[in-house]
Amino acid sequence: MNRITINPNRSVGTINPNIYGHFAEHLGRCIYGGIFVGKGSPIPNVNGMRTDVVEALKAIRVPVLRWPGGCFADEYHWRDGIGPQEGRKRMVNTHWGQVVEDNSFGTHEFMELCAQLGCAPYITGNLGSGTIREMSEWVEYLNSPGDSTVVRERWANGRKEPWGVKYWGVGNESWGCGGNMRPEYYADEYRRYQTYCRNYPGSSLYRVACGPNTDDYRWTEVLMERAGRFMDGLSLHYYSVTGPTWEEKGRALTFTRGEYYELLSKGAWMETLIENHGKIMDRFDPEKRVGLIVDEWGSWHRVEEGTNPGFLYQQNTMRDAILAAVHLNLFNRHCDRVAMSNLAQTVNVLQSVILTDGDRMVLTPTWHVYDLFKAHQGAALADCFVETDQVGEGKWQLDRVSASASVKDGVVTLTVANCSMDEAADVTVKVPHTGRITGRLLSGEAHAFNDFVSSPVASAPYADFTAGKDEISLSLPPCSVAALTIA
Ligand code: AHR
Repeated sequence: MNRITINPNRSVGTINPNIYGHFAEHLGRCIYGGIFVGKGSPIPNVNGMRTDVVEALKAIRVPVLRWPGGCFADEYHWRDGIGPQEGRKRMVNTHWGQVVEDNSFGTHEFMELCAQLGCAPYITGNLGSGTIREMSEWVEYLNSPGDSTVVRERWANGRKEPWGVKYWGVGNESWGCGGNMRPEYYADEYRRYQTYCRNYPGSSLYRVACGPNTDDYRWTEVLMERAGRFMDGLSLHYYSVTGPTWEEKGRALTFTRGEYYELLSKGAWMETLIENHGKIMDRFDPEKRVGLIVDEWGSWHRVEEGTNPGFLYQQNTMRDAILAAVHLNLFNRHCDRVAMSNLAQTVNVLQSVILTDGDRMVLTPTWHVYDLFKAHQGAALADCFVETDQVGEGKWQLDRVSASASVKDGVVTLTVANCSMDEAADVTVKVPHTGRITGRLLSGEAHAFNDFVSSPVASAPYADFTAGKDEISLSLPPCSVAALTIA
């Protein structure tokens, strides 16, 4: 028996819209080709940004976009990406695929993209191989309304007003590709660098320190103890990966029943990570001032055969959609600490919401999950108690039903996933309601995916429920995600 009890009158926090954020790195075909094609491209664009992709991202109301990396961020020198595009410095993207990076997408282009999307920019500064002065001047270039040589450079490049960037990452994965630092060393470096990332009139930075890799609780402990009072956010990176080793990762499209549950059960472990890192943060920050910023997460499968291994291109199935739903439900439920999350990565890389091929574009099953969940953005999290059993194979088990609920303008939104690969789920929802109930459903066989030939996976109106007084009975197909609005 699966029962969800919602008390809409008992709000337990606000769901930060930024929980629905995304991440776009200079990696493979994410930025180049996936988002940015340049003004001269035959692919319809506005100032170089693909119109189809921008429209699809606007439709899911992307609230915040993280850029330029990822590992790339700690090799990125922002001055290489400003000024006339023809004169920009070329480099080889040594981290991702050894391809030439011509820096044609730089600061102005990223800010243009965010303006078109109507989202907040979240920029990660280079602490690994850049100087304090370089990071400090990037913030000045972006945010200062003053009259300095750096600001005059911005004017000369066509932008008079400061942009007022708020979200600022001070390095990425400083325990790994961002410098292989020890937490004690990074904590000191973080304190130095963030000091010179100034608040300018009209804009105050929200400084995000590099947080732990997965379950590295010591990193969180050291960072919170030594630098907690200098940060607004602490990041967490955790990817869901199947297979015996990193090198022998499972595939995106051809997976067994065991691998289906392996991925989902590993994804559901995110809740344990949030709770355990959260407990450490609570000791240093009981008021929960510092947000946990899950700025990289999602499925990481073996790259699609025949593609550049450094491009991390993978297809996306209903299994990935369920993974996304499980994550977003648990981020909602932990919105007292989780202030942002950024799925990796927006287009053509890892668990993308969009895939492109030349001028063609396809929406992945994961895009549809973001579409179903978008009403939660900025809503009040409602008390939502889920009683369910476990489903899985062998040691890979997780809750059969994942859910969260929120209230906005008197309307309750319930998102619920049936994680079973092959069994339908009957779910009783206890909730006071007086008016109309509407629903949408995303469902399909676990291996179903969309490609450039056909797109069978899409959400559709859902009415397979009966409503009594204060109770709704749902029947959810296997491997499905439903969103209900209850007035
Ligand atoms: O998202 C791909 C890579 O994963 C990022 O560049 C890095 O931060 C992480 O290891």
